[in-house]
Amino acid sequence: MTGVAPERHRAAVIGAGPSGFYTAEHLLTAGVSVDLYDALPTPYGLVRAGVAPDHPKIKSVTRAFDKIAAHEHFRFFGGVELGRDISRAELLVGYDAVVYAVGAAADRRLAITGETLAGSVAATDFVAWYNGHPDHAHHTFDLSCPRVVVIGNGNVAMDVARMLMLDADELAPTDVADHALAALAASNVEEVIILGRRGPAQAAFTTPELRELGHLRQASVMIHEPEALSLAIDEEMPATVARNLALLAEYSAAPISDKPRRIEFRFLRSPVEILGPGSVTGVRVARNRLEGGSAVCTAEEELIPCGLVVRAVGYRGTPLDGVPFEPARGIIRNVGGRVTDAAGDVLPGEYVVGWIKRGPSGVIGTNKKDAADTADRILEDLAGGALPRPRLAAGPPSTSPFALTPVTWAGWQAIDAHERAAGARQARPRVKLVSVPEMLELARANPAAHA
Ligand SMILES: Cc1cc2nc3c(=O)[nH]c(=O)nc-3n(C[C@H](O)[C@H](O)[C@H](O)COP(=O)(O)OP(=O)(O)OC[C@H]3O[C@@H](n4cnc5c(N)ncnc54)[C@H](O)[C@@H]3O)c2cc1C
Ligand SMILES: NC(=O)c1ccc[n+]([C@@H]2O[C@H](COP(=O)([O-])OP(=O)(O)OC[C@H]3O[C@@H](n4cnc5c(N)ncnc54)[C@H](OP(=O)(O)O)[C@@H]3O)[C@@H](O)[C@H]2O)c1
Repeated sequence: MTGVAPERHRAAVIGAGPSGFYTAEHLLTAGVSVDLYDALPTPYGLVRAGVAPDHPKIKSVTRAFDKIAAHEHFRFFGGVELGRDISRAELLVGYDAVVYAVGAAADRRLAITGETLAGSVAATDFVAWYNGHPDHAHHTFDLSCPRVVVIGNGNVAMDVARMLMLDADELAPTDVADHALAALAASNVEEVIILGRRGPAQAAFTTPELRELGHLRQASVMIHEPEALSLAIDEEMPATVARNLALLAEYSAAPISDKPRRIEFRFLRSPVEILGPGSVTGVRVARNRLEGGSAVCTAEEELIPCGLVVRAVGYRGTPLDGVPFEPARGIIRNVGGRVTDAAGDVLPGEYVVGWIKRGPSGVIGTNKKDAADTADRILEDLAGGALPRPRLAAGPPSTSPFALTPVTWAGWQAIDAHERAAGARQARPRVKLVSVPEMLELARANPAAHA
C-alpha cells in the first residue's frame, strides 16, 4: 500500500490583529494551515486602527505580520465578519480548530449622569475616527471649544491628549485619516485636562508616553496640586512609578511656558456628572482620597467647564453569536485559551487569544506569549486526537471553504499599494482609505486578488 501523506490540520483564526497573527505564526511553524479572517478588508487590528498616527515605529511591527502572511499555508480572508457573513457553526465544520482573536472594540462606561450627552465621547470612537476605521469615519467631534476633559490615566488617555494638542505641522506627515487631519488642524482646543481617579503613583500610563507630552511644540504640561507628587513618593515603589513621578515633578517645576496650549493633570478626581443641557458644558468632579489603593469620593466637589469630554477608561469585549461569554469581564469564557461553557466544560475545537481572552490590557508584544500559550493548547489537542476532523475540503488557494468572496492577501496588498502611493505624493507613509466599497473595488480590480 502506498503511503498517503495525511491532510494537514487546518485552523481558522478570527481577527487579524496582533493576537491573530501571532497565533497564525505559531501554528504555521508547527505545520498547521491557517486561514485568517477579519471583518475589515484590511489586516492588523489596532495596529492600524488604534496605535497613534505619530507612532510609525510601533506600526512597523506589521512587517513581521507580512512575513507570517507570506507562508505558503497561510490565507487571508478579509471583509468576512463572524456573525454577519459566517457563523460559528460553519467554521466548526470547516476547520480542526477555530480561534477567536476579535479584540475588545467597545468602551467601558462610567455609569454617571450625562454620559450620553452630545459632546461626551468614548475614546474608542475618537481613536478609531482619527485612525480612519471605516465604521468610525463618519463621526464628527466639536473641537470649537477651548477646553476638553479627558477622563482616565491610561496610555489611551495619553494618546488622546497628545492628538488633541499636536499642531497641524506635526500631524501632517503622519497617516492620520484625512478627515481627522482637517478637523484637528482647524481645532480651537487650547487646554486638555486629564482626570485621574487615583493618585500619580497609581496611574496606568507608562513613562515614554508621559514624556512625549513634554515634547509637544504647542503645548506645555502642568500639574494641578503638585503636592500630590511628593505625597506619593514611597521607597518601595516600582521603577516605572518612580520614573513617572520624577517626570511629573519635572513638568511641575518647569518655568511658565509661552506655548499657546496646555495639558493639565488633575489627580484624585472622579467625574460624578457630565453637565448639559443638550450638549456638554462641563463636568462635576469629586475630590477623592485613597483607601488601600482604591479611590473613595469625598464630599468636596468642583466644576470644570468644557465643551467636550473624552472617556478613556478602558475598552470592553462584546459577545460573539453562540460563543460563551463572561459579561462581567467582557471576555470569551476560557481556561488557558480553551473555550469553556458556563459549567466550565471545554468546547472541543474552540480557542481564544488576545484582548478577548484576557481583557483589554497589554501592549502588542504581550499578545505574542499569550498567542503561543493558546496555540500550544491547540497543538496538544491535535496531537492527542481530541479534535474531530473538518467535514469540508480546504478549497483551492485563495478560496474560502465557504461561499464567500473575501479580500485575499493580494487584495489587501492592492489596497496597501494604493494607500502608500497616495501617501508618497504628500510625503506621508500612506493616505488611508476609509470606505469599504472603495477598498473592495481596489481589491477586486487586482487580478491576483481572487482565485
Ligand atoms: C488606542 C490604542 C493604542 C495602542 N497603542 C499601542 C502602542 O503604541 N504600542 C503597543 O505595543 N500597544 C498599543 N496598544 C495595544 C495593542 O493595540 C493591543 O495589545 C493589541 O492590538 C490587541 O490585539 P488583539 O489581536 O487582541 O485585538 P485587535 O488588535 O483589536 O484585533 C482584533 C481584530 O479582530 C477583528 N474582528 C473583530 N470582530 C470580528 C468578527 N466578528 N469577525 C471577524 N473579525 C473581527 C477586528 O477587525 C480586528 O482586526 C494600543 C491599544 C489601543 C486601544
Ligand atoms: N503607547 C502604548 O504603548 C499604548 C498606547 C495606548 C494603549 N496601550 C495599551 O492598551 C491597553 C489599554 O489602555 P487603556 O488606556 O484603554 O486602559 P488602562 O491602561 O486600563 O487605563 C484605564 C484608565 O481608566 C481609569 N478608569 C477606569 N474606570 C474609571 C472610572 N470609572 N472613573 C475614572 N477612571 C477610570 C483607570 O483608573 P484605575 O487605574 O483607577 O482603574 C485607568 O487610569 C493598556 O495596556 C495600554 O498600555 C499602549
